[in-house]
Amino acid sequence: MAPVCSAVAADPGALAGATPGFHRIDWPALGATLDLAILEVEAALDAWQGKADAWFLDGFAPARNPEMWREPVLAQVAAHCAPGARLATYTVAGAVRSGLAAQGFAVARQPGFGRKRARLEAHWPGDRIEPAMPRVAIVGAGIAGAALARAFAALGVPATVFSAGPMASGNPAALISPRLIAGDGPEAQLCAQAFRRSVDLIAATAPQAILARGLVRLERTPKDSARFDRIARDHVLGRTRLRACRPPPRRHSWANRWRWAALLSHRP
Ligand SMILES: C[S@@+](CC[C@H](N)C(=O)[O-])C[C@H]1O[C@@H](n2cnc3c(N)ncnc32)[C@H](O)[C@@H]1O
Repeated sequence: MAPVCSAVAADPGALAGATPGFHRIDWPALGATLDLAILEVEAALDAWQGKADAWFLDGFAPARNPEMWREPVLAQVAAHCAPGARLATYTVAGAVRSGLAAQGFAVARQPGFGRKRARLEAHWPGDRIEPAMPRVAIVGAGIAGAALARAFAALGVPATVFSAGPMASGNPAALISPRLIAGDGPEAQLCAQAFRRSVDLIAATAPQAILARGLVRLERTPKDSARFDRIARDHVLGRTRLRACRPPPRRHSWANRWRWAALLSHRP
């Protein structure tokens, strides 16, 4: 895990384009997948649907950052424990010990490392259940089937694909076109994250498959101009640049009705 920890610690925002929300990042070389939430802790845990086998609580000292250790946060941690989950933290503050115990953890103070005299270990009740390896069959090897097979492989789950034709429906090329939604609401975040995830995934796994980047969006209604301006201002697209282009020459019959805006996918 050391390379993953160093990469995340170095710049977690850069990994995911610094946009708020959930981001899935693959490290195929390590056989690891990271789900990174750039959110307030309570909102992140509330939205997360997983169960953890292990926790490390590392949210600054409780005296300096009580937000991270509040009862609703510890309740969310408990709610997302797999049977037999283990928890560790460097703080042995009384409020954290009693807060975790109140949620049902068995809490034990242990000798610390380095300059720390003590640390905390806690156990959630139950015995760890080793999940059985699922058996997966995917019928059809279009874009969706091929993407599913890749996602299962990244999770270490072998999948059998049944298909009569070539993979990805035999298409010679494909287009990833993001839905541009103004604001930073959940739908705007989901579309922006899906776009970035697709582009990052292809860039990492099959860079030779990228023929071109960039997107041209035409204004179709009078409201689009203001909407594009709002999208360009919003941070939800992270390192993606949006810019307005000059209208096309008037000799084009549609020039009086539509102006241009271009979204340029930009990776430093
Ligand atoms: C001591 S740092 C530890 C970071 C990381 N575990 C590491 O080893 O590099 C504490 C982290 O908690 C995050 N944090 C503090 N309060 C938070 C809150 N209320 N919600 C979400 N994250 C919070 C900070 O942004 C910071 O990244």
